[in-house]
Amino acid sequence: AAEKRILCVGLVCLDIISVVEAYPAEDTDTRCLSQRWQRGGNASNSCTVLALLGAPCAFMGSLAPGHAADFIVADFQRRGVDVTHVAWQPRGDVPCACCVVNAASGSRTIVLYDTNLPDVTARDFERVDLERYRWIHWEARNAAEQLRMIQRVEEHNRALPPARRIRTSVEVEKPREELLPLLAHGDVVFISKDLAKHFGYRSAPEALRGLRGRVQPGATLICAWAEEGADAMGPGGELLHADACPPETLVDTLGAGDTFNAAVIFALSGGQSLQDALNFGCRIAGKKCGIQGYDGIV
Ligand code: FRU
Repeated sequence: AAEKRILCVGLVCLDIISVVEAYPAEDTDTRCLSQRWQRGGNASNSCTVLALLGAPCAFMGSLAPGHAADFIVADFQRRGVDVTHVAWQPRGDVPCACCVVNAASGSRTIVLYDTNLPDVTARDFERVDLERYRWIHWEARNAAEQLRMIQRVEEHNRALPPARRIRTSVEVEKPREELLPLLAHGDVVFISKDLAKHFGYRSAPEALRGLRGRVQPGATLICAWAEEGADAMGPGGELLHADACPPETLVDTLGAGDTFNAAVIFALSGGQSLQDALNFGCRIAGKKCGIQGYDGIV
């Protein structure tokens, strides 16, 4: 049988990136250093990184036919990411982000248009043959539907011996109230610095201690905090830390969090310890911040 894959469910969009020497002031007209189109979206970026790390993976998210989708599908294929589960929508626009990457600091400023393309539904997810996957990751978006998807996997797992179960992870990045119920699902839950700050926490360990009551017993909670590295609370409540591995010069932090998530999932799905997975996540994410895009992260 073919090796089981990792499936990432969430956003794919078109990132139109301008790399600038200095961040422009409002209502000015300047030239940039370079410009590129890049396939974006958290789940889509994580697939790029998984593929580069050598893990067979698949993406599930919505697209609508047109030029942007043609570019995106070709790019997925170039990376070897399976797109069988893309939900093609008859109406709506493929989300597009205008991104300004400041080459002097690595900062990324994103303006995303993401309004009218319907999301993947639990109904769409029913067509996924779960037997083909060893890990399924959700980027929290349409939480009510995504909850039903995870519950389908939980149901599937209950009938299986532990070694054959599909492992699950959830990323809650945006501090939106309706996404929070998703924290209670998944073997691994990634929360963002943004979400932690929204709750009033000032560090990753503080956020882990404060939010642990929201994840299911035995789950692992992970919080990356830019230059402060990443922390995790393991299934037994133990706290772990990994230092950041910043490159000599930060040039492009767009997708650094997605890179971290993918590297952690890759390591855990390959049987590495939580500490090793955190270290690996920080190492690959750090590498990413030192280059434009993703080529060269491994
Ligand atoms: C990076 C990213 C970009 C996209 C934006 C969407 O994490 O996924 O590729 O434009 O965030 O929020």
